[in-house]
Amino acid sequence: MAEVAQTLVYPPIFPINDTRTLMLMASALGLRDKYTHAHAHRVAHYSKRLAVRVGLPMHEVMQIAMGGMLHDLGKLALSDRVFSNQRAECSEEMLQEVRNHPLIGAALLKKVACGRPITDAVLYHHERINGQGYPFGIKGNAIPLSAKIVSIADCFDAITTDRPYQKRKSRQEAFSVLLKMAGTSLAADLVALFVDEIRCNGMACHDHPPTAADTTVHAGNNLSH
Ligand SMILES: [Fe+2]
Repeated sequence: MAEVAQTLVYPPIFPINDTRTLMLMASALGLRDKYTHAHAHRVAHYSKRLAVRVGLPMHEVMQIAMGGMLHDLGKLALSDRVFSNQRAECSEEMLQEVRNHPLIGAALLKKVACGRPITDAVLYHHERINGQGYPFGIKGNAIPLSAKIVSIADCFDAITTDRPYQKRKSRQEAFSVLLKMAGTSLAADLVALFVDEIRCNGMACHDHPPTAADTTVHAGNNLSH
């Protein structure tokens, strides 16, 4: 009997560490809001291109792209009041709720065995080079590379798409904003690479291009930066 038991290999009841599981999590967030869904795909796209530009190995590039896809996963836990808020200003209480989303996203990811760059991107994508970010206020090289890459992709997409409180800016204007943020909020060397990448190869993101449809939804996205 013991012999038989030793030869049996039971598959896990719930397979983990699976791209489909992670995409399911991304889709769940997308169900709450159309803008967030398209934004996540575009951030994944831009993150992937920047990671390739950095010269990272492909497995790491793919993890960073997934980090971009899942960066706002914790917004699943936002209350309807915060999620549907369309004003640029909000109360301190609402702000605090938003500021918890990286922690919540990372806590959710602990339930699957995903790679470190993914969790890092989710947990640290609102940290800033000068330490003025959240949730920890870490600065400079203490911020993991995947998070620094996703931050730039996140900012660029936020600037170049319509928001309830802000009209989209042109690519050129977006470059100016990113370059102003370089060295204080965003990693300067990565911003330079990103601007060069978009200048050379354009913004094309065929699956989820920024469209007028992005203006019709809301979902607390005014609070993402
Ligand atoms: Fe975020």
